[in-house]
Amino acid sequence: MAVLDQLTSQQAIDLENKYGAHNYHPLPVVLNRGEGVYVWDVEGAKYYDFLSAYSAVNQGHCHPKIVNAMVQQAQTLTLTSRAFYNDMLGQFEKFACEFFKFDKLLPMNTGAEAVETALKLCRKWAYEVKGIDENRAEIIVCENNFHGRTTTIISFSNDSVARKNFGPYTNGFIKIEYDNLDALEEVLKSNSNVAGFLVEPIQGEAGVYVPDAGYLAKAKALCEKYNVLFIADEVQTGIARTGKILAVDHENVKPDVLILGKAISGGVYPVSAVLANNSIMNVIKPGNHGSTFGGNPVAAAVAMAALEVVRDERLAENAFTLGELFRKELNKYIQTSGVVKLVRGKGLLNAIVINDDEGSNKAWDICLALKDNGLLAKPTHGNIIRFAPPLVMTEEQLLDCVSIIINTLKSFED
Ligand SMILES: Cc1ncc(COP(=O)(O)O)c(C=O)c1O
Repeated sequence: MAVLDQLTSQQAIDLENKYGAHNYHPLPVVLNRGEGVYVWDVEGAKYYDFLSAYSAVNQGHCHPKIVNAMVQQAQTLTLTSRAFYNDMLGQFEKFACEFFKFDKLLPMNTGAEAVETALKLCRKWAYEVKGIDENRAEIIVCENNFHGRTTTIISFSNDSVARKNFGPYTNGFIKIEYDNLDALEEVLKSNSNVAGFLVEPIQGEAGVYVPDAGYLAKAKALCEKYNVLFIADEVQTGIARTGKILAVDHENVKPDVLILGKAISGGVYPVSAVLANNSIMNVIKPGNHGSTFGGNPVAAAVAMAALEVVRDERLAENAFTLGELFRKELNKYIQTSGVVKLVRGKGLLNAIVINDDEGSNKAWDICLALKDNGLLAKPTHGNIIRFAPPLVMTEEQLLDCVSIIINTLKSFED
């Protein structure tokens, strides 16, 4: 069988099972085409995508402007490494710095690499600017965080499945409860070696936990008081997903270090970035950090186009309005539902909590039924289903999705 043969779903699944490492547990659907808010499987069935590749495809599948930017650049120059300059990187850096209002950007490829970059930047700043003794810097993180899969990042995860048998782990992290300002101040007050506080403005992977209003602003103020860097991981929440360009914008917070990934590329090509002002970013000198692909011309062209689409198509505003509508409609149903406990979220990053044990299969079964009804979503943890469609959705499409979701949930009512 040639690789390019048209496969059935079962053939594609069998190939992955046989030749691929089993590091994911996908929903049994095999996609081969996407456009806007829709994807199609190899048998031609059409679905609403309600995951958006974990919020990477905010601009919709195969957005022509972003794809075109990639194709044009790919036909011109793809990779130089950072051994030489290329004529696209500086343009992207300027564009993104002006877009997010920072002095400098450090380009990488994946979210986890950008998180690693931010951690290294924070430690170096701690030794060279704050004056912490070498090797003593600590970074505060939150329980139930998700920041990626590298050895250092899983060192401060408390997801046993992500951690078990991957030790020894990296030191230098202090874990506190999410959305708990007292816990944050307690550590800041008692430990002068704290260099940074790494936080997701909404904990997406954990199940779309939205902190109390004011949490981010007050946490930022505490970080300022104790001269500690506030590091916002906006890999999932960033770029219009929550109804503002950044989730920290809901509280007018300017992070010291901003981590972006996923939708900065519109899901077209891996691009990630760390942004900070000169007083922080200038600790990075030639040879300190890098990546062969980070800052390549295709990534630069794609990311600029992806950000232009977010701005020109007013995706943050659309996510805000449709998010309010989504939660309003679901809340109406939930009042009479025995299956769903609650809906929560911001903008178009939402989740429902199924009225069942964390260990039950009900959320998975509901996702299978949603698939049969033409909508793709995935449980995050146990009994929680995340709903994160592309932000180019129209109100009519959203209401169609709401009725698919509610009708599917109703079929699980006793
Ligand atoms: C908040 C957050 N940070 C980092 C990452 C890691 O990104 P990547 O999978 O591109 O390494 C993710 C991925 O889901 C994420 O949600």
